Amino acid sequence: MRTAGLFLLLIAVLVSGTWYAYRATTEISGSEQWVSHTYQVMDALDSLILTLQRTQNTAADYIATGNADYLSEYRATSSRIAQRIDDVRRLIADNPEQQRALIAVEINVVRLKATLDQAADARTQGQVVTTTGDQQRSITADIRAMKAREAELLNRRVDEAAHSLQTTRVGLLAGAAANLILLILAAALVIRDQEQRSQIRDSRLQLAAIVDSSDDAILSKSLDGTITSWNKGAEQLYGWPAQEIIGQSVYRVVPDDHHEELRNILERLARGERIDHLETIRLRRDGTTVEVELTISPVRSDSTITGASVIARDITLRKQLERSLHQLTIGVLQAQDEERRRIAREIHDTTVQKLALLSMNMAKMKIMTDPAKMAASVENSQRLASECVQELRTLSYVLHPPMLDELGLGSALKIYVEGIAQRSGLAIETDVDPTIERLDPEVEMALFRVAQESLSNVLRHSGSKIAQIRVVNQDGIELSISDKGVGMPEKPSASELPVAVGVGIPGMKERIRQLGGVLTITSGPSGTTVTAHVPDRKAANA
Ligand SMILES: Nc1ncnc2c1ncn2[C@@H]1O[C@H](COP(=O)(O)OP(=O)(O)OP(=O)(O)O)[C@@H](O)[C@H]1O
Ligand SMILES: [Mg+2]
Repeated sequence: MRTAGLFLLLIAVLVSGTWYAYRATTEISGSEQWVSHTYQVMDALDSLILTLQRTQNTAADYIATGNADYLSEYRATSSRIAQRIDDVRRLIADNPEQQRALIAVEINVVRLKATLDQAADARTQGQVVTTTGDQQRSITADIRAMKAREAELLNRRVDEAAHSLQTTRVGLLAGAAANLILLILAAALVIRDQEQRSQIRDSRLQLAAIVDSSDDAILSKSLDGTITSWNKGAEQLYGWPAQEIIGQSVYRVVPDDHHEELRNILERLARGERIDHLETIRLRRDGTTVEVELTISPVRSDSTITGASVIARDITLRKQLERSLHQLTIGVLQAQDEERRRIAREIHDTTVQKLALLSMNMAKMKIMTDPAKMAASVENSQRLASECVQELRTLSYVLHPPMLDELGLGSALKIYVEGIAQRSGLAIETDVDPTIERLDPEVEMALFRVAQESLSNVLRHSGSKIAQIRVVNQDGIELSISDKGVGMPEKPSASELPVAVGVGIPGMKERIRQLGGVLTITSGPSGTTVTAHVPDRKAANA
């Protein structure tokens, strides 16, 4: 736009410059004509002076000598005077002042001629006459005055011509400079325009490359739902190659029960609305459905909505994870409830009963008189009290093993395993690498919980009478819990196994994963092994 304006200005300056140059040259040539005209006038005046002088001289010669040749020469010369005056008159037709002077000269010339004719006639008749030449000198002086005026005029015109030449020169130079500046500006603008265009072209190509290489499906459609572009991500998501789907209706990728939703979307787009993060279902070429998140924006051309751009993201995995998380949360809450119920039941059924019994014993002892009975009752009460202490200690250990903080993983595991073995009768072999030093408290707690859950699973699910716990130092810490039981049931499907059944295994996996480690389970008819490997934290951080 700016370039066009500048070009128009350039053309205007060029045209006006050309017009100015034409006018100036016309003026200069007019001045030159005037100068040559003045010279012509001065020549004509000189001729007149000469003719007058010659007339005067030949008349004087005749009067002095009486020679007839002089007389005839006088007559021929004097007859040319009128012609000379006419020549001058023609040339000064545009100058009233000179015309007036010429009339005065002409009158004096007529007088002079009459005087000379008279003298010549008298001489012819033999009379003695004299001529002074004063009249002729006076006329010559007048004519010279005319010449002087003409010369003055000439000087003025020469000055004017020089001035106009100078002005023209300056004008033309200024015009040329303006043209040059405008030309340079226009050239600079043209070059910048070109650069901007090539930048826009490059950025468009870059954008197209980004769209094409995007993992998201990006497509565009007209307002009637006809697909107009389709990137590689769309090919992968929907299974349709671009050349087959472009030009077809977008309903091809929408399941029948979502057609109403699409109509709705097209209506909203036509109103200029944008649709953000719409989670919905779309149809693949092979007839399967895919969960997608759509962001749809109207595309405008000159403020008119001509279509829409669609970015579709495959959210199948995210949705699966969300569902898994949901199930896991429910499982965790149920497990918490179950655990609380179990603890409450355990306290109620054992410790509370024993404490009630203890209380009754004490009430009886208050009124006992027989020392033997009293001693038996005290002994019984002592036993009940120490059982309560033992039970509460076990319970507090399950809730949080105090030895873990004080003694570290190896010792805490050994104490815990002894307790389990005593209560359950399970033969547990514990093998802890003695070189292992204290670990990060988080790592110790996570590995302890893995051992707890795995042993609990052994007791609840494996049917095994023996179990083995090993802790070794191998590129980090590796804890494994094995049994010789029935093994885990055949999994119905990969995704269902851990989540659908319980929260123990997913919980263990998550704890270990958060420490940057891995939990693996190998299971078969001859037993199950759970292995948790946590990298050496200090080494990893170094
Ligand atoms: N050592 C094992 N031997 C045989 N089967 C096992 C063993 N450990 C786990 N399983 C099987 O794997 C399933 C999932 O175990 P997980 O610990 O996740 O849940 P759970 O023990 O059933 O319940 P929760 O731990 O949530 O109380 C168990 O139900 C069981 O069928
Ligand atoms: Mg379990």
